[in-house]
Amino acid sequence: MDDTRSYDIAWLPGDGVGPEVTREALRVLEAVGSAHGFSVTATEYRIGGAALDETGAPFPASTRDACLESDAVLLGAVGGLQWADTTGDRRPESGLLALREALGVYANLRPVRVPEALTDASPLRPGRVGGTDLLFVRELTGGIYFGTPEGRTDDGARSTMEYSNDEIERIAHVAFQRARRRDREVTSVDKANVLEVSGLWREVVTKVHDEYPDVTLRHLYVDNAAMQVVRDPRQFDVVLTSNLFGDILSDLAAALPGSLGLLPSASVGGTVGLFEPVHGSAPDIAGQGAANPTAAILSAALLLDEFGETAAADAIRHGIDAALETGHRTADLAPDREEPASTAVFGRAVARHAADYTPQNAPTP
Ligand code: NAD
Ligand code: IPM
Ligand code: MN
Repeated sequence: MDDTRSYDIAWLPGDGVGPEVTREALRVLEAVGSAHGFSVTATEYRIGGAALDETGAPFPASTRDACLESDAVLLGAVGGLQWADTTGDRRPESGLLALREALGVYANLRPVRVPEALTDASPLRPGRVGGTDLLFVRELTGGIYFGTPEGRTDDGARSTMEYSNDEIERIAHVAFQRARRRDREVTSVDKANVLEVSGLWREVVTKVHDEYPDVTLRHLYVDNAAMQVVRDPRQFDVVLTSNLFGDILSDLAAALPGSLGLLPSASVGGTVGLFEPVHGSAPDIAGQGAANPTAAILSAALLLDEFGETAAADAIRHGIDAALETGHRTADLAPDREEPASTAVFGRAVARHAADYTPQNAPTP
């Protein structure tokens, strides 16, 4: 095997639980790297509130340059109560938007699965959620997050939801192409019964679909889609949607497996890929070693998928399942346990199981 593969990762721990969970992701990356013949070098840079405190800006030019020169960016989360009074481009969250824009990562992929071992952690009945396997394809660098004008007016404020044909077209292609690797079903979610911008969304997605006759397409209004995700999540394969709707629906879907601490994301389509948990800085549990690192660890698996290190990525996913199956639970998944696993204990269990896993000793399905 080629043992010269090495990857440079820009590590942006950020705020709150961000450093805690990404540290475990790096631990697991290192463990599977040794087992699969590659090395990962992570260099730390500031973003969000941590960057604001240190440099006066939530996305310093030095961080931007380092990210653009890296092979991939692994991010924790940004924001927190201590920066709640910041406004405009001093908000920690605006640093994250600036990072996504600088990398040009317009396609945010958010897979949602309900691991067998966790059907009992779901607030829904196991029979309803077991086997859920869907992929949100969320547009990430347009829509109301980036539309102009935005700001205060004389007697109010406004934000603008805006999409160009090209922006809709390119994200629609991503959804149909991803669907081809899955169950070939795309559900496009919009609010075309009310919003002009959603009318265009539906029109363009329908046109792009002509190029993918082997994939089925249906359209749902976002309010109905939210209800359907809870009522019968197994009906979905790929869910294609805009920036704001995708943000809301993916947090909603995190309730299916039972915790926001489980959902990873990959943001692609630009110069360098960005990998981050769906969750935020979780100020309510930060600094306690209580956060679930699964979302960050699975984001690292998506990072390896992008590098073509799929065996190592699969080993990580197996490591998560094995840690859960052997009874490891962080507090979010075991509210009644007196001594839940800490972030580090859970991370170490995953690293161990992931490093031990090779396709040779994989259970036959
Ligand atoms: P949040 O995602 O930080 O937390 C929501 C709830 O989920 C909390 O109860 C939290 O304890 C729980 N949770 C989140 N991650 C968890 C984990 N890994 N393990 C266990 N439980 C976890 O959302 P919020 O409280 O609305 O926002 C807090 C801050 O994070 C805000 O400043 C917000 O802007 C920011 N935020 C950042 C990102 C990001 O950086 N990508 C994403 C969302 C929110
Ligand atoms: C997310 C977050 C971000 C978003 C915020 C912090 C800018 O909620 O990654 O889901 O809305 O995209
Ligand atoms: Mn969000």
